[in-house]
Amino acid sequence: MDKLKNKVAVITGGNSGIGFGIAEAFKNEGAKGAITGRNQNTLNSSVKALNSNFIGITGDVTNINDLEGIFKQTSDRFGEIDILVVNAGGVVDGVPLETILDITEDNYDQYMNLNLKGAYFTVKKALPYLKDGASVILIGSSAAHRAYPGMAIYGAAKAALIHFAKGLSLDLLSRKIRVNALSPGTIETPVFTKFVPENQLSQVKQTWLDITPSNRLGLPSDIGNAAVFLASEESSFIVGTEILSDGGLTNMSLMK
Ligand SMILES: NC(=O)c1ccc[n+]([C@@H]2O[C@H](COP(=O)([O-])OP(=O)(O)OC[C@H]3O[C@@H](n4cnc5c(N)ncnc54)[C@H](OP(=O)(O)O)[C@@H]3O)[C@@H](O)[C@H]2O)c1
Repeated sequence: MDKLKNKVAVITGGNSGIGFGIAEAFKNEGAKGAITGRNQNTLNSSVKALNSNFIGITGDVTNINDLEGIFKQTSDRFGEIDILVVNAGGVVDGVPLETILDITEDNYDQYMNLNLKGAYFTVKKALPYLKDGASVILIGSSAAHRAYPGMAIYGAAKAALIHFAKGLSLDLLSRKIRVNALSPGTIETPVFTKFVPENQLSQVKQTWLDITPSNRLGLPSDIGNAAVFLASEESSFIVGTEILSDGGLTNMSLMK
């Protein structure tokens, strides 16, 4: 229970779904630090649920000034940062995932700004506050490898993010900072309610379940457990690569 004892972590989007699952897993292994998000209410309730091992910092990851503030506030409070989880991302509020037939230039920029540019600058702005030897975990997606309807831009952003694990690890060799991607399959989180109408929710989840070989959807704790491994010394020889935690979704097809 102390794989991350006294380690300082920042988890963007730690106030919901996968990010919160990672924060809980880190707390259970002795870590402390900060979770971030834009929604003050869910930040407050998440901090409370984490027994105050974590502070909540409000910030939009598509805003460079907010990113500066997140890392400064964390290190003012806890000192140098050992672990950064770049998790904030996914669906842009109020902007449905669409095919190329319907997407606008603005929609394209919004998805890329959240899922790719925001992630890149999250790492860049963290660098002055990261300890040498830190672990950076980029939350990718199975959608980087498989095409799904209306998800071309999101999948492309995640595929590029997975490349960042390699390229940034190389850039940061002199500081021994390891950057790896952790790619979930379909995980039970509030994201579904952001793009699926209430009356279609169970049908949409069943569709994902039908193509998941493990015959269950993932839980935020599944991703939390894998993130503990990537954050800990146990993975010290794992650098610039991707781990899939997807119940077999990416690499195995069910012939039904
Ligand atoms: N659930 C899945 O099946 C699945 C599968 C593969 C990959 N993923 C990836 O896992 C990550 C988390 O997804 P999730 O399913 O846990 O979704 P979620 O419950 O909707 O959480 C998204 C998180 O990102 C934060 N966020 C969104 N836009 C932001 C912005 N502009 N600035 C700062 N924070 C922002 C949200 O906080 P606020 O709203 O408070 O800002 C929230 O904490 C995403 O990167 C997603 O692409 C999810």
